[in-house]
Amino acid sequence: EIHPSAKEGSKAAAHEIAALIREKAAANQKCVLGMATGSTPKYLYAELVRLHKEEGLSFKNVITFNLDEYYPIEPDALQSYNRFMKEHLFNHIDIPEGQYHIPDGTIPKDQIKQYCADYDRRIEEAGGIDIQILGIGNNGHIGFNEPGSNINSHTRLVTLDNSTRLANAYEFPNMSQVPRLAITMGLSTIFKAKKVILMAWGSHKAKIVCRSVEGQSTDQVPASLLQQHPNCKFVIDEQASAEL
Ligand code: GLP
Repeated sequence: EIHPSAKEGSKAAAHEIAALIREKAAANQKCVLGMATGSTPKYLYAELVRLHKEEGLSFKNVITFNLDEYYPIEPDALQSYNRFMKEHLFNHIDIPEGQYHIPDGTIPKDQIKQYCADYDRRIEEAGGIDIQILGIGNNGHIGFNEPGSNINSHTRLVTLDNSTRLANAYEFPNMSQVPRLAITMGLSTIFKAKKVILMAWGSHKAKIVCRSVEGQSTDQVPASLLQQHPNCKFVIDEQASAEL
């Protein structure tokens, strides 16, 4: 889906999510959303907040699971995805405490395996993800599933590629402070979502969008594996579509 701008693409995605939230609420059901961070979903969250404040969209029936978090990191650190989600979405809507989940970057290392297995179990117990929102890294990563990630991978602790640390260094005082590890939902966790919406804006994403959509489906470009998902769409702006 190609939109004239990031704002318009984000609005379209927000309205699709809002429609599902309302449909589920009318049927007295929960709506389970997979959330992403980074610069890409900022307008999407701004539009969801606007729909809540101006058009009465309620998030009381919404359960969310975030894709990833740096490790280790304190939840209130400036660069933490916990903090990002609160600042951009959760502090401004009526989602009940306990209904949003973000990987915890403070879990002791010897408990991470169990913690990640529990994270996947909680997603399943919630009924699975209805809509998974994704951004895309310059190397094709989704969540923090870097090139080479296994299509059957579960939520786990991963090592970040140097290119990813470099791309995200602007958030930190200097490169040496960018964490080397992260907790991420696995590719199989993402693949179980009933619907996947990957968003990408700007000319710097044009090349990787093209490789993901038109290139070979390979674990060397994790987003290209989404070609095998039965209900996935890329919502992009004209600039990100330039190489298609
Ligand atoms: C980050 C996140 C991803 C995100 C991607 C793109 O490292 N872990 O979930 O989609 O990189 O970031 P941005 O949206 O800022 O371009």
